[in-house]
Order: sequence, then structure tokens, then C-alpha cells
Amino acid sequence: MAGAQSGTDRHFMFDGCDTVALAKKYGTPLYVMSETLIRERLREIRDTFLERHPWTFAVFASKAFQTLEMCRMVASEGLGLDVVSGGELYAAARAGFPCDRIFFHGNNKTIEELRLAVEYGVGRVVVDNLYELEALNAIALERGMRAKILFRVTPGVDSHTHRFISTGQLDSKFGIPLDPRVRGRYIGAALAMKGVELTGFHFHVGSQLLENDSHLKAIEVVTRLMRDVKADYGFETKDLNLGGGFGVRYTDADEPKPLAYFTDAMMAEVRRRCGEYGLPMPRAIIEPGRWIVGEAGITLYTIGSIKEIPGVRTYVGVDGGLPDNPRPALYGARYDAIVANRCDGPRSRVVTVAGKCCETGDILIRDIALCEPESGDILAVFTTGAYNHSMASNYNRIPRPAVVMVREGRDRLSVRRETWDDLIAREI
Ligand SMILES: Cc1ncc(COP(=O)(O)O)c(C=O)c1O
Repeated sequence: MAGAQSGTDRHFMFDGCDTVALAKKYGTPLYVMSETLIRERLREIRDTFLERHPWTFAVFASKAFQTLEMCRMVASEGLGLDVVSGGELYAAARAGFPCDRIFFHGNNKTIEELRLAVEYGVGRVVVDNLYELEALNAIALERGMRAKILFRVTPGVDSHTHRFISTGQLDSKFGIPLDPRVRGRYIGAALAMKGVELTGFHFHVGSQLLENDSHLKAIEVVTRLMRDVKADYGFETKDLNLGGGFGVRYTDADEPKPLAYFTDAMMAEVRRRCGEYGLPMPRAIIEPGRWIVGEAGITLYTIGSIKEIPGVRTYVGVDGGLPDNPRPALYGARYDAIVANRCDGPRSRVVTVAGKCCETGDILIRDIALCEPESGDILAVFTTGAYNHSMASNYNRIPRPAVVMVREGRDRLSVRRETWDDLIAREI
């Protein structure tokens, strides 16, 4: 597992920090994020995508893990940010993120959110429907401004991933279908509007993809669209946002590829198609979320109850679960874990790790081999850096965990743990 070494104490070390000591210092459940691993990924994007391919840009899909500190880290490495709600936009602006590097997504942005986007001067609003297009045009005109927009399109490509994280297929709540009658209404309308400036197109085929074929098929479809809109409307595509979706290793069953496996092939395909259709190369943008932060995060839990049902299974209860990581319940996501205080011990006992929520479905990991677990042990679950902290809830009035950032043996609190008073703070 990236960033892991065993310490002298049989304790699992993460970015130079003893995870058992972190659990003791900050309590559990605890999200631990490795700044080293995050920055390595941000720099890999720079080295293998931005510097290798001219006229490109990359944004971090902040829905995967958004904190003020993360926004600042992304800004410091020169990338942009994808936000998907007024809340994410507000937080990014409060973190001092340059708003002209923000792409604002969402399939049903509210009027309030669109006003905020115009007021902050976001780089691109990624328009998903006619309602939003008309509202944005009116808001921008009211302020004497012109909002730059992309259209999110549905390339009609099925990706090989869980259907809840597949987004590029025709039957999707996201994006504009490419049926010429539908797309004509959007493009004709946008080109006639004074409050918006259409600069190009966006697609996102799905998440946790381990092969590049869906991205390549989508590029084939969208470059054809670029050719057709040039022929029909004289519109030249300046921005082509190719989305995110690059997969990571959750368990040994996943074999993630380096970023360049995707991006080199994608760029070659964009170049080839544009050449074939006589189109100028647009600025190509990628939008990874999970790939940047997924493997950079672990979650530490304390093991409490251990319940053996003879001949059936052994449930190992931890002090978190569905509220800090809803992905197993949502998508049947699989995770790997170890007993952090005996990380070199034999993984000889197959158990099921159960969360503490009042839901039968609150199972974090079914049938995992661990080193004989005992009450009081610290369990480290890997690859929880994406869509855990950002998806956390207070179900059963369970306070959300703290986030600790670690870097080469140093740790610092990035987000404090919620208190029980926080849980009732909004109640009148
Ligand atoms: C529009 C858009 N872009 C980027 C992403 C990031 O996906 P991933 O975290 O798989 O890279 C998502 C994920 O839902 C998305 O909807």
C-alpha cells in the first residue's frame, strides 16, 4: 500500500507517522491524509500531462475531498478546481482559491448558486440544461457581465463501473443528449445570448475506471460533435473538458494504471480526430478527483465488540462506519484493512468489519482476512481519501471524524472532530 512502511513497534506507519500514536492523540474514527501522496499526484499531473501536452489544464474534482487546506494545496500546485454546489464554491472562495480557475458543475444549480458563480467570476459554468442556461444568461445580463460556459454532454458511452458512478450513458440525469434536435436547441440558444459565452464541451464518463476505452469512445463522439457544430453554426470549440474517473487501488483486485496511460491515449485521440476533421486543437482539460486523493487517505478505527456466530461469521465492530464511509452501503465498494498495532502479524482470521449504525447494511468490509483482531486494536482501512470525508453524515447523531494531515513524520489537525454540541447547534 502506497505510503506504508512498518515501524519498529509493529505499528503501521503512514507518511512517516505511527498510526497507533495518531489514534491515541486524536481519537478514532480518524481520517488521515498524506500530504506527500497528494502532492506526488498533483505533480504527476503536472509532469505527465500539463508539461507533456501543450495547451492543457487540470482541475481537482473537489467533491472527492474538499477542505480549505486541500483547496490551498491545489492552488499552490497551479491546478484548478471543480465544484458542484454553492457550498463547495463558497468554501473554495473562502480558502482564497482563484475563482477564475473554478469549473462549476451540477445538474440542477439553483438561482442562488448561479448568482454566486457570476458574483465570484468563476472560470467556467458547466451548463447542464436549458433552465440553467436561461437563468444564467439573465443573471449575467442583470450585472452587465458575460459568463463563460461549457455544455456538459452525454456521449452515450457505457463505462465498466458501478451503475451509480457511471454517468456518460444516454439514460443519465447528467448532461445534454447529443440528438441533433436537442443539441441544436442548446447551441442555437447559447450562441444568440449576450450574457453567456459558449467556449466548449464537457463530458465525464464515470468513475473508478481502470481502462481507457470509455474515455476514447467518448472523445470519438464529442469530436464528431465539434465537427458538426462547426459545420452547422460556425462554432469553434475552444475548451474540451474530458472529465475524471481514473481508477485507484482499493483492494488487490484493482490494477490501476498510471495517469499517462489514460491521458497520453486521450490526447493522441483528440489530436487524431481534430486532424481528421480539420479542427484546431482545443484546450484539453482533465478533472480527476479520486485519483488525486483516494490512496492518500486512510481511516483509523478502534475495534470494540467482537461477535462470533458459530458456523456463520465473526463480526468485528468498529467505532464508525456508514456515517464516515457510506460507499460500501451505496455501491458495494470493497476496501482493504489491517490491524495497525500488529501490522506484521499473519492475516489468518477471516472476519466481517461492521459499523456501529443501526442499519444491517452498515458493513464496512465483508470477509476480510485480518491478523486475529482483539477489542482495543486499531484498524486502518486503506484508500479512504476520496468520497469519505466529503460524503460523511451524522446519521444516528454520530459526530464526524477529524481530519489529520501527515507529512514525513509530522502531523497536524486539518479539520477538528465534531462535538456532540455541534450536533445540536442548529436546532432552535
Ligand atoms: C463532472 C465530474 N467530474 C469529475 C468527477 C471526478 O470523478 P473521479 O473522482 O472518479 O475522478 C466527477 C465525479 O463524480 C464528476 O461528476
